[in-house]
Amino acid sequence: MTSATFAAPATEPSTGSDGTTRRRYAVVGTGHRARLYVDAMAGEHADVAELAALCDTNPTRLAFHAERARRTGAGAPAAYDAHDVDRMLDEVRPDVVVVTSPDRTHAAHVATALHHGADVIVEKPLTIDAEGMYTILAATRSSGRHLTVAHNYRYAAHNAALRQVVADGRVGDVVSVHFEWLVDTAHGADYFRRWHRDKAASGGLLVHKASHHFDLVNWWTQDVPESVYARGGLRFYGEAAGDGGARYALDLAADPELRSLYLDAAHTDGYRRDQDPFGPGATIEDTLSVLVGYRSGASMTYSLTAHSPWEGYRVAINGTRGRVELDVVERCHSTEGLPGARTDDGGASGCCDVRRRGGRLVLQEHWGQAVEVPLDEATGHAGGDVAMLRDVLRDHLPASAGGPATDPLARRAGLEDGLRAVAVGVAGNRSLVTGQVVPVASLGVEL
Ligand SMILES: NC(=O)c1ccc[n+]([C@@H]2O[C@H](COP(=O)([O-])OP(=O)(O)OC[C@H]3O[C@@H](n4cnc5c(N)ncnc54)[C@H](O)[C@@H]3O)[C@@H](O)[C@H]2O)c1
Repeated sequence: MTSATFAAPATEPSTGSDGTTRRRYAVVGTGHRARLYVDAMAGEHADVAELAALCDTNPTRLAFHAERARRTGAGAPAAYDAHDVDRMLDEVRPDVVVVTSPDRTHAAHVATALHHGADVIVEKPLTIDAEGMYTILAATRSSGRHLTVAHNYRYAAHNAALRQVVADGRVGDVVSVHFEWLVDTAHGADYFRRWHRDKAASGGLLVHKASHHFDLVNWWTQDVPESVYARGGLRFYGEAAGDGGARYALDLAADPELRSLYLDAAHTDGYRRDQDPFGPGATIEDTLSVLVGYRSGASMTYSLTAHSPWEGYRVAINGTRGRVELDVVERCHSTEGLPGARTDDGGASGCCDVRRRGGRLVLQEHWGQAVEVPLDEATGHAGGDVAMLRDVLRDHLPASAGGPATDPLARRAGLEDGLRAVAVGVAGNRSLVTGQVVPVASLGVEL
């Protein structure tokens, strides 16, 4: 495999089939996440994006999104079975393909779309293994098309504020990072209810979930991971832990969308969205500790706990001039039966004087007092998703026509970023098996 030079995603003006600057989209994988994109094409971005086609293995979910798209005005999409993805690309000729299918399918769909001359927006993680990394790298190079990876966390206000502090040189040269991510039991259990529980489908949480976090660190510090050592296991969910009880049961029938998308669709493909997190067969970890070495000589200690009583994260970046700390509480307290979604009150239920929802960014330069950096409270996935959609769905327009202005924080993630983010998890998975430090270069895709 070869070394890579990477081009940033282009912002070339593009015209849609009707001669306007409205681009035509195909969405591959019409489950939960597809809704974000379909709704954006019906709402804020309807003037620049038209949904031309949908593709999935499951006809019920396809019909659900097709009907919804027509009703909301996103478009009148043609529906294709996933076996006919080549035919869809030949017939519909979309400008952009959005890949929102399960992680293990990303590499093949991304490569196929690029080879058919479409640009691609792929959900994180870019892919789940070294083979997928190489497939996507080769397809991007040979096609010359543009690839965007939907790393939405970069767009959350507190994460952007931390990038700004580091970019301004306030901590000097970064020498180490300490990063702890906590997923609460409402959200964490959800990874054990469906395909994510199978490492061959999701790459495990070190790829599926932590690729968000590894991308943030690569971006915050503008560094490149070189070596990974990981330890972890299934310590909380899974059959050895016994019965989690009714608190962990998910009632698909109680939620109209979950019912339509999953319960009513299960008879065609057997996809069960509400498996028991404490049932047999889970091959992923719920508790992970990782040590990462970077090209600059910096290092990171990272941990992921998928069974915490509260949800959020703590990160500290130590530099030659000082230290910056970001503490974020996304949800103060798990609520039973939630499928990982944020609560309607924005996660405020269960908050108290001891644990308050929100973020706190504190900078302390050597010999100086600690100062709190003000944060915009539009936080979490929601804030990130809205800003990310604006960036990626309008990127073909000049700023004067409503396109995004040049982003001084360079939040838009491309091929290089996607590869570097999953490289840590893929190498970490190897380390979990071998018990050894794994050089990222051993994956065979030079970063
Ligand atoms: N950035 C984020 O915050 C975020 C949040 C949620 C999901 N995601 C990502 O979005 C993707 C989809 O997740 P989801 O929660 O919507 O999952 P989901 O299970 O709800 O939906 C996946 C869909 O893909 C379909 N599918 C299965 N195999 C396929 C194939 N070979 N070709 C085409 N379609 C196929 C399924 O039938 C299903 O409709 C994942 O990669 C996930 O990591 C990202």
